Amino acid sequence: MQTPDLAADWKTIDSLPRPTLAELFAGDEGRVGKLTRDVAGIHFDWSKTHLDEAGLAAFEAMAKKADYNARRAALFAGEVVNPSEDRPATHVAERGEGAAHDNDLARRRHRRMREFIDAVEGGAFGEIESVLHIGIGGSALGPDLMIDALGRESDRFEVRVLSNIDGEGFDAAVAGLDPKRTLVVAVSKTFTTTETITNLETAIEWMVEGGVEDAYGRLVACTAAPDKAVEFGIDETRVLPFGEGVGGRYSLWSSVGLSIAMALGWAAFEEMLEGAAEMDRHVRKAEGEANIALLAAFADQYYVMVRHCETRALFAYDERLRLLPSYLQQLEMESNGKSASIDNRPLGRPSAPITWGGTGTDAQHAVFQLLHQGTHLVPVEFIAVIEQSDSVDERHHQMLLGNALAQGAALMAGRHSDDAARNYPGDRPSTTILLPRLEPRHLGALIAFYEHRTFANAVIMGNNPFDQFGVELGKEMAKSLDDPEGREKLDASTKALLEKAGL
Ligand code: F6P
Repeated sequence: MQTPDLAADWKTIDSLPRPTLAELFAGDEGRVGKLTRDVAGIHFDWSKTHLDEAGLAAFEAMAKKADYNARRAALFAGEVVNPSEDRPATHVAERGEGAAHDNDLARRRHRRMREFIDAVEGGAFGEIESVLHIGIGGSALGPDLMIDALGRESDRFEVRVLSNIDGEGFDAAVAGLDPKRTLVVAVSKTFTTTETITNLETAIEWMVEGGVEDAYGRLVACTAAPDKAVEFGIDETRVLPFGEGVGGRYSLWSSVGLSIAMALGWAAFEEMLEGAAEMDRHVRKAEGEANIALLAAFADQYYVMVRHCETRALFAYDERLRLLPSYLQQLEMESNGKSASIDNRPLGRPSAPITWGGTGTDAQHAVFQLLHQGTHLVPVEFIAVIEQSDSVDERHHQMLLGNALAQGAALMAGRHSDDAARNYPGDRPSTTILLPRLEPRHLGALIAFYEHRTFANAVIMGNNPFDQFGVELGKEMAKSLDDPEGREKLDASTKALLEKAGL
């Protein structure tokens, strides 16, 4: 696979006129209609970005040259799209939208998940009331987000997600849980991740100390390395596998989502898959700027390459989506934070911008100062839910939504003042995403949109979004601390810090 040289295309885009947002709106009455899309029940608005007809045409030509359609077809066909690991990326098959044999396999694995949950509900493990989900990174962030967003009023199993090696995290995760009524779900694609294995061992001790006679009989493994889970001592009847082609940060649809299904029920899990599948079908068929993953990537790429933005920020105007920024940080930064191209040459351009964000309106009173008046240009994404579902007076929800929309307007309009401290330059871009309600279907579709947007960005940038070699060195260094020879090789600063920390 050879990445095309897009330098001439970037030159074209860079040389296009740069009207302000106000000028773009003034010059085209139909702008909102042209730059908004409704897909899978979700409303997306890119009209407050600097994309215009000339820019879109140039980006479409670039996507063609980058062979987006062929790369997309390869993804959906289950072909190798991760050459450094010689693997396909089969997360779309988990939603039934991949190659037939991958879809079949995923369906059979889902059936096993469902049978397992039925068995738990049928009392196969005694009276289970809670689940301790142990995993890290992609083996935790997706389930944590979904359960936190959708499970707040659930009367099913209480699920706690434990990821960090910090014992404080362990104490907090098991606080108030009865070990005799807890099922431990160990989630790890490789089943070698130190944090997860150590937390799992500690969870076994916690169960034994809590009087559980057969602690190993309370363990479930969700993994792409079933042999390793069995080697660890988990009976193969409680090992729920998923495919090697499912990357950690793309895995919540697989058995990694067992805890989601336990917290929300199987029907909700299936709705989440169906929402994602609806997004898949859109992305697979829609061409050029009609494809929202590609359109989003055009805006993302424009700000990185033409306006030299180093970060992008997203703000969820809904407490239930407070974990969305962390989820997206992994998805975008672990996928596209790379300086090698997919054909293993220097990337020769900036990698993905830094993803950061928070929740509104809190963030308005903390970081929005910089967004409105700082010297950095930061494209902002607002995500809000139209229908209120909390129990308090409706003015709270109206204020919440109103603030989300007003911020986008304020960033764009700015306000002139001769007093520099009070001057807002305006012309600052934002995207708005409105979900009608917060339901498994919509959240499934939203997450699938982000996955496809990440892929579209990778195709244009020319990198492989499905490997993550950048995390290995730190892991190896941490391991080398146990070995005197490895310690000896460390730099003077780290050696001194180790001594100071008593390690
Ligand atoms: O260290 C990074 C990483 O490999 C992520 O890519 C992954 O999601 C996480 O660690 C957990 O890995 P595993 O599921 O194999 O335990």
